[in-house]
Amino acid sequence: MQHSLKSKVWLSSPHMSGNELSYIEEAFRCNWIAPLGPHIDVFENDLCRYNGVKHAAALSSGTAAIHLGLRMLDVQPDDYVLTQSLTFVASANPIKYLGGMPVFIDSEKETWNMCPQQLEKAIIACMRGEIRTPMGRGEARLPKAIIPVHLYGMPANMQEIMRIANEYGIPVLEDAAEALGSTFDKRACGGIGKLGVLSFNGNKIITASAGGALLSNDDEMITRAKFLATQAKDVAKHYEHTQMGYNYRMSNILAGIGIAQLELIDDRVAARRANFNFYNNYFSNIEGVELLQEPNEKYFSNRWLTTISVNPKLTMGITRDDVMDALAAENIESRPIWKPMHLQPLYTAYPYFGTGVSDEIFNNGLCLPSGSNLTKDDLARITEVFDALFHKCKQTERKVAVNF
Ligand SMILES: Cc1ncc(COP(=O)(O)O)c(C=O)c1O
Repeated sequence: MQHSLKSKVWLSSPHMSGNELSYIEEAFRCNWIAPLGPHIDVFENDLCRYNGVKHAAALSSGTAAIHLGLRMLDVQPDDYVLTQSLTFVASANPIKYLGGMPVFIDSEKETWNMCPQQLEKAIIACMRGEIRTPMGRGEARLPKAIIPVHLYGMPANMQEIMRIANEYGIPVLEDAAEALGSTFDKRACGGIGKLGVLSFNGNKIITASAGGALLSNDDEMITRAKFLATQAKDVAKHYEHTQMGYNYRMSNILAGIGIAQLELIDDRVAARRANFNFYNNYFSNIEGVELLQEPNEKYFSNRWLTTISVNPKLTMGITRDDVMDALAAENIESRPIWKPMHLQPLYTAYPYFGTGVSDEIFNNGLCLPSGSNLTKDDLARITEVFDALFHKCKQTERKVAVNF
């Protein structure tokens, strides 16, 4: 095959800073090879400073952070938890870990994130007992939590979501797994709601190979989260347990990787935003291919992944899948937008409030290679694929891309 000669261009691959190994060696020197140690304390402090929050718990994954966050909000069996339908499955699964009832909310077109109108409709329906659950009609009660997601780094409309949440007295857990470095109205995504979640999985803007964090200004919640994350050991000489805990703490070695990665977060955001500008510039003259813009100056996206929507009615029949296949033929990775939860076999029976916005985004949307370590050669190869595919769609001379 032709592409076997060409190196793979990844969607979003780890980008080491060079300092990681010195932190790992330090952990070995001090023999802190455990899910506790000085790197964890430093990493948590660094995360607090960067995100403008008072407390952070470094954990084994973002999924673990959501799970613990929902326990902090006392989610019990059959409690309603409202989350965005258009997201990665890890935003929803922890609701089910606790026996809660996920209620899926459609996206708004402006951010692709939780639609405030649909959110309010869902809250009212929960309160009136008008929710149809897989077991029948749900009980009338206030939802226990709202989980907006800052998808692909684009901040959700936190002004409206927080206004609605405060009006009804429902705590917000922000899923900022993809949004470290993004801000809404100059506040860090993940630092606006009662709790926030980050992920340091291998494909994220910074990585610890795996890992996550729970953020909050609430001292008690983070202290309790750390207690539950270390198997909920009561104070005693022997091992005494009155509550069920988890093994969810981050390793001290991985925290060392995290520290080194976070040192360069501003560069990483700048590089990903430059990727977005490159693609934005390229597609500015091609009808039928749209990029999601920041709606106004309140929104600052880390541009974790640049996404496009392809409208085959305007691209002379070229579809999202055609773009994906053409890139794959050149050993270039791309990925469809997350399939909404209300369309997933796992969750089709669960309540959903929406008008099909996320369905359409899913049908036409594609994530493009967006790593902060993309080279000029990588971008040239991607450009070649686009040139071959879209040459008939071009309207005018393409502007020269200068933003990388
Ligand atoms: C939106 C979203 N939520 C949650 C997660 C879960 O994070 P982790 O993979 O660290 O468990 C991810 C990423 O993987 C994600 O993209």
